[in-house]
Amino acid sequence: MADSSDDRRPFRVLFVCLGNICRSPLAEGVFLHLVEENGLQGTYEADSAGTGAWHVGEPPDERAAAVARRHGIRLVGPARQIRPTDGSEFDLILAMDESNLGNVRGAIPKGGAEIRLLRDFDPQAAEDRDVPDPYYGGDDGFDIVFQMVRRSCARLLETLEEDGER
Ligand code: 4NP
Repeated sequence: MADSSDDRRPFRVLFVCLGNICRSPLAEGVFLHLVEENGLQGTYEADSAGTGAWHVGEPPDERAAAVARRHGIRLVGPARQIRPTDGSEFDLILAMDESNLGNVRGAIPKGGAEIRLLRDFDPQAAEDRDVPDPYYGGDDGFDIVFQMVRRSCARLLETLEEDGER
């Protein structure tokens, strides 16, 4: 996986979905919570972005904030759109679904951050590795998304720590 190539600076992860108000802020919040739980502050940094611009400047969706709150996690905003410079500013960019992955690859110049799906790290993922878009669904969709994101972020952090790639 990508190497930050400078041991003095944190390993930087960017989570990307469509609107940057539901899935990617959840992933950012969960990842940073795990980093803190493991005493790794300063070793990792995270941010999130959307491939689309519709929700730029908005706080996280209240349903995403609520599920996070139930697990003791606070989400941060405001939403922003992905930019080409994210490729050089981050070590790893993790897209929430295949559509986001294609759009990220189109928006980021080659040769920078490694770009993958978040659920490449989900130990329970089968062939379908999308984190489903919960925006138009009910609250249970946010619980399902939260569980997927939590499993994936836990394995992601374990992998980064085991590989010593930060
Ligand atoms: P997200 O969810 O990509 O997880 O932030 C969505 C938010 C807004 C819309 C779609 C998905 N939308 O169509 O406005």
